[in-house]
Amino acid sequence: MLLSGAASTATAALERCGVVQKASSFVTFSTDPTRRSRWGLAADVRIVTPDQPHAVGAVEANLQNLTRDFGACDAIPLHYGQDFFDRCSQILADFWRFDTDIFPLSLIGIPPWAPFQIMRKRVAARRRFLEGTTALYRRIDQYQCGETVESGVDMSDISKVALERRWVYSSMGEASKKVKPAPDGDRTILHAFRQPALEINSMILPGLFANCPLLKASIFEIYRMANEAASSRYVARPVTIDDGAYKHDLRPGMFISAPHPVNQRDPLVYPNPDRFLPDRFLEIDPEAGKSVPRYGKLRPRGTDAAMCKGRTFAEREIKVLGAAIISLWISVLHLAYGRYQP
Ligand code: HEM
Repeated sequence: MLLSGAASTATAALERCGVVQKASSFVTFSTDPTRRSRWGLAADVRIVTPDQPHAVGAVEANLQNLTRDFGACDAIPLHYGQDFFDRCSQILADFWRFDTDIFPLSLIGIPPWAPFQIMRKRVAARRRFLEGTTALYRRIDQYQCGETVESGVDMSDISKVALERRWVYSSMGEASKKVKPAPDGDRTILHAFRQPALEINSMILPGLFANCPLLKASIFEIYRMANEAASSRYVARPVTIDDGAYKHDLRPGMFISAPHPVNQRDPLVYPNPDRFLPDRFLEIDPEAGKSVPRYGKLRPRGTDAAMCKGRTFAEREIKVLGAAIISLWISVLHLAYGRYQP
């Protein structure tokens, strides 16, 4: 369902949410936090020079958090509606707190009840996040069953994907999967910006998606250098894998995890692996006679039937976000570039 007609659906959705218009206020020059955009709240924006008639404004900001939350401020209302996003005022901070800041602690075995302030904050963030999304799914259920939804709730702009996916999951008795905002925007901007050959001449989205192979190849190269995808699977039947000198017996009930980045820095697969060379993903298509981007051995979205279902949307979102910011804020990035060494 997410994939059928995904390309045109994703393009239409991204056009609707006005990324380019919003990108013009990517950074605000106000010292008043209440006048800042929501995506600027976690960006440690510091006004160096206020924007005034006699002086050009300058700010310092955390580009990673700024682009991350800029993307999230597009993607979350687009999928789940503006009403949900407005109600859950802490959703961005809560999501990143447990997804990025604290998840690694859980991976190394620190239990949620550990008596550290950081873990208490994690538990509280997770609880708020779950309360918000559980309430949303309850409203979606009511809406889909024709029941009265709590008064004052606007359900009109919840995406078809969110509605239909909920329908599928609830009919299967499963919890719905998350929508994860694409986290790679800042790296797209910084790396793509370093490509002298890359010029954004137009923000007409279908053209940007279809006719800009270098932008797409740059995104592949960012995935290669920065993305660490894994595919995790449950073993249902016993399987034996002969792996050269090793033999692996996989027993039912086990979980296996295949980390895809193992070859991403292998010089035999990608010569000069530490250099940002997007052209390595460009091939000449013999039929069309033009340059086209190809994934080759790269698997940033996992593999087989359980491959990422949001890949078309995520890729287009990263492209439009990166292109909008590059084209509108290029001079600012020139200033930042002096200090940025990937
Ligand atoms: C840059 C952003 C993203 C990256 C790098 C990414 C990557 C991945 C990866 C590696 C998997 C696991 C695939 C496997 O097990 O082989 C996955 C699964 C999934 N992703 Fe994404 N994803 C991104 C954004 C999104 C978005 C925006 C959505 C929804 C709109 C989404 C929806 C899903 C779903 C539903 C699955 C589970 C698929 C299944 O189990 O059948 N993803 N993603």
